[in-house]
Amino acid sequence: MKILVAGGAGFIGSHLVDRLLNDGHTVDVIDNFVTGRKENIAHLTENSQFTLIEQDIVKEVPDKKYDRIYNLASPASPIDFAKIPFEILMVGSMGHKNLLDLAEKTGARILFASTSEVYGDPKVNPQPETYFGNVNCRGARSCYDEAKRFGEALTVNYQKMKGVDTRTIRIFNTYGPRMAPNDGRVIPNFFMQALKGEALTMYGDGTQTRSLCYVSDMVEGMTRLMESDVTEPVNIGNTDEMTIRKIGELITELTGSSADIKFLPLPENDPKLRQPDTSRAKALLDWQAVVPAHKGLQETMTYFQTFL
Ligand SMILES: NC(=O)c1ccc[n+]([C@@H]2O[C@H](COP(=O)([O-])OP(=O)(O)OC[C@H]3O[C@@H](n4cnc5c(N)ncnc54)[C@H](O)[C@@H]3O)[C@@H](O)[C@H]2O)c1
Repeated sequence: MKILVAGGAGFIGSHLVDRLLNDGHTVDVIDNFVTGRKENIAHLTENSQFTLIEQDIVKEVPDKKYDRIYNLASPASPIDFAKIPFEILMVGSMGHKNLLDLAEKTGARILFASTSEVYGDPKVNPQPETYFGNVNCRGARSCYDEAKRFGEALTVNYQKMKGVDTRTIRIFNTYGPRMAPNDGRVIPNFFMQALKGEALTMYGDGTQTRSLCYVSDMVEGMTRLMESDVTEPVNIGNTDEMTIRKIGELITELTGSSADIKFLPLPENDPKLRQPDTSRAKALLDWQAVVPAHKGLQETMTYFQTFL
């Protein structure tokens, strides 16, 4: 198939592109490198099945026929929420609309990369797809959470009103090689600090939880959803919920670091609990995460060591 991956130079996008090329597809990546990195796709430049289009999807998308469009384009780190909120709001709304219009015009199937952040700081744990969420529309994370909620609303209405063939994945915390080392999320933070022998910065008291999904599991879930007939949103994530403190302990053990912990105040509206209910993914896609934390974290450590 001919496939367009928006945001394909990013962390998850570049792993998806590798997978699609390995499966024999032709892949165009559109990316403006606002958070993506040339190194993530450098190994593909000689591949004749691969084309890079350096472009902002808010401004323009290719006028080409594709069989599939994956839209992963969006900054995703809390550091970006504070620095580039307008870019985030625009890519989730206008950028996604541009790709939906292309899908409508050419008959492509389109997948929107939504997020567990549509559930906000949840009052229900684990979070099923039927939970409407608890989001502050004016808070520190609102540019991201609301852009994704708007993106989902656009997606479902293009499907209902215009007959566009859509898929929606709600991605839960994902980690692995090619994460930007300075993007401010917990895994890059802890690894870079532990490997440099610096104190781990822990927000709040570290009892807030996350469920970490290794990137190969995420890509498997995403491609399964794309090739399924499931048009409802589907949570993809690992159900192994851990406190941030536990994640810090695993990383200090792996790296052999004896560094202290530096406690900082919990940022505004930071979710206190995060665990996907993946019953829908299991029932409809026969998918569940299979990579255990110790294995995924080991691979990830090997990658972060290259930055020292
Ligand atoms: N990593 C996670 O844990 C996680 C969790 C939930 C949702 N997601 C979603 O998955 C997708 C990928 O996340 P990631 O962690 O790989 O982030 P990332 O920042 O590494 O990748 C995003 C990519 O999109 C590109 N991009 C952003 N705005 C663009 C624009 N206007 N035009 C063209 N390209 C643009 C960036 O340059 C980057 O290459 C995002 O949509 C994100 O919201 C990720």
